[in-house]
Amino acid sequence: AGRCVVAVDGPSGSGKSTVSRRLAVSLGARYLDTGAMYRALTWAVLRSGVDLTDIESVAKVAGEVDLRIGTDPQGYGVTADGVDVAKEIRGPEVTGAVSAVAAVGAVRELLVARQRQVIADAGRIVVEGRDIGSVVAPDADLKVYLTASEAARAQRRSAEDAADVAATAADLARRDKLDSTRKVNPLQQATDAVVLDTTELGIDEVVARLRALLSERG
Ligand code: C5P
Repeated sequence: AGRCVVAVDGPSGSGKSTVSRRLAVSLGARYLDTGAMYRALTWAVLRSGVDLTDIESVAKVAGEVDLRIGTDPQGYGVTADGVDVAKEIRGPEVTGAVSAVAAVGAVRELLVARQRQVIADAGRIVVEGRDIGSVVAPDADLKVYLTASEAARAQRRSAEDAADVAATAADLARRDKLDSTRKVNPLQQATDAVVLDTTELGIDEVVARLRALLSERG
């Protein structure tokens, strides 16, 4: 099987991660969670103790940290300077700070370059994030933009995190606003993306639709 790049974008809780991993497994492809890269870098920034609003210092930490991420859709590791951060990057500290770090231009430049390298090396890969179809892989074979109602997204995320639905809804709304209004590479629908509302769809159904779209395109 030849090169195949699938870009999956959308807001938090839209089902991106589950769908992207399942799709990658079914295609025998690699998988890249770009959100995990922004989260791991945020972990390093928090550890360094620099002020999040001090853009130059944040950029400096970003340039110095040794960030590694796996691409196995059935389980990938994430390390920052050799520390396994897989668990911490899902915690409230990182989640609370990641959108600010991800808004820094120098941080995005660095991670976008890394992401393009991973894509080139893998050849067949499903990549999920916020700016994949628009910026990271504009030449992707398939671009998908997943959405879901705010209620469904909050429900899913709070179930995953065993957290309170109202608090989760507030956090999602806060991050979405930051992610879609930032100046550099905001969350946006690529003009040629297929939009799928997953509110009423099961995961298997979404994956099947994406597979059908891919085979239509040869
Ligand atoms: O997808 P996830 O919720 O793990 O992403 C965490 C954060 O990383 C997002 O809220 C966003 O601020 C940032 N992000 C981004 N661009 C991407 C992926 C994630 O800015 N491609």
